[in-house]
Parts: sequence; structure tokens; C-alpha cells
Amino acid sequence: MNSYFSSTLFRKTLAALSGLFLVIFLIGHLIGNLQLILLSGEAAQKQFNEYALFMTTNPAVKILSIVTYTSIILHILLTIILVLQSKQARPIGYAVEGGGENSAWASRNMALLGSLLLVFIILHMKSFWYEMHWGAIGNDPSGNKDLYTVTVVAFQNIWYTAFYVFSMIILGFHLSHGIGSGFQTIGLKTRKYLEPIEKTAILFSILIPSAFASIPIILYLQSL
Ligand code: HEM
Repeated sequence: MNSYFSSTLFRKTLAALSGLFLVIFLIGHLIGNLQLILLSGEAAQKQFNEYALFMTTNPAVKILSIVTYTSIILHILLTIILVLQSKQARPIGYAVEGGGENSAWASRNMALLGSLLLVFIILHMKSFWYEMHWGAIGNDPSGNKDLYTVTVVAFQNIWYTAFYVFSMIILGFHLSHGIGSGFQTIGLKTRKYLEPIEKTAILFSILIPSAFASIPIILYLQSL
């Protein structure tokens, strides 16, 4: 039992489960953020700031947030350990199995893609999450912290907008290999489910990053 918890299999399973949980987080985060572009003007400001207040104060969401932070940290630490272990065990690396050209390229570059995403997450959290919790941001007409204006102003900058779009392309490649790989590790990618899982993975790896990228692009275009 004890050796199972220090085994590569256990680490791989936990890396897969934390990664798959983060996909669920991304879907929820995307739906919440789409309010930024689906509504406009004062309605968007009021609605988004009420949503942000709910997301930072509701006890159930707070627990979910802690699960999210833990998943991010676990996913990073475990995947670093797994990459180092596999380098030690097999310095030349494996030949890559099918799943499409993009996925094959992504599978060889997961560590690089993940590291770029880490840079994105740190800068992203500084811009919005840190500001919402500890920044000196103003209030909207309803008296709520005006995270809406912080977000809209951030994407008036072309370089910040471009950085988000670039990061979403990186996210797409990371997901294109990560989702299928996660399902394989937890044993769900059996013969029966192979095709639907691969198709869903490709669909999600295109839809989620594209929808995320549309937010900074639309906010930037609206600011012109
Ligand atoms: C381009 C679209 C995105 C926008 C406009 C956006 C906006 C925001 C905002 C406004 C917050 C602060 C919310 C709060 O603290 O209540 C936030 C938090 C966060 N974002 Fe994003 N986000 C985007 C994409 C992403 C992506 C792609 C990831 C991950 C790869 C991500 C990861 C996070 C995390 C982990 C938090 C902290 C969540 C929490 O405290 O529970 N975001 N985001």
C-alpha cells in the first residue's frame, strides 16, 4: 500500500486527475468570463462585478477555488517529477504514438507548453485575481469592486491582448495531448471509448481556447 503511494502509477493518476479537474475548471471559468462580451455597457459591469463578488465570497465556491489551486500546484509538481523520472529512465525518449500531427507535436513538447502556461497563469493571477483580493480597485455604481473595468482596461493594450491570444494557442496544444493522455492514464481510453474520447479531446482543445481568446480580442476591438 505504502509503495503504491510513492509509485509512478500513483503520481501519473494524480497528475491526470488534477489535469482533468482543471479542464472542468476551465469550462466553468469560460462560461463566467463570457459575460464580459455577451452583455454590454453598464449591464455587463453590474452583472460581472456581482458574479466576481459571488465567486470570491460564496463558501462553496471558496472550497472549489482551493481545490483548483491545489490541482494547479499538484499538476505542476507531479508532471515535473514524472518528466525528470522518465528522462533518468530513458534519456532518448519514446517514439510517439498516433492521435494526429498536432497532438504528436504537443506530446513531445508538453513540458515546454506547460511552462509557458505557468508564466501565463502567474501574470494572469497578478492582473485579476490579486487585484480582486488585495488590489486597490475602485467600486462600480452598485458599490461592488469594479473588476469589470480592471479587465476591460487591461485588454485596451494590444500587447496584453496579443499575449492572451498567444497563451490560448499554447493552451490549445497542451489540451490537445493532455485530455486524451489523462483519460488513458485513468484507464478510460479503452477500445470502446477510444474514438469518442479522442474526438472530444480535439473538439475541446479547439473550442475552449478559441472561446477564451475571443474575449480579449472583442474587448480590444470594442476599445478602438
Ligand atoms: C482570456 C480569458 C480570461 C479572462 C478574461 C479571465 C479572467 C479572470 C478574472 C477576472 C479572474 C479573477 C476572478 C476572481 O478572483 O474572482 C480570474 C481568475 C483566475 N483565472 Fe482567469 N481568465 C481568463 C482565462 C484563464 C485561463 C485560460 C486560465 C487557466 C489556464 C485561467 C486561470 C485562472 C485562475 C486559476 C484564476 C483564480 C480562480 C479562483 O480564484 O478560483 N484564466 N480570471
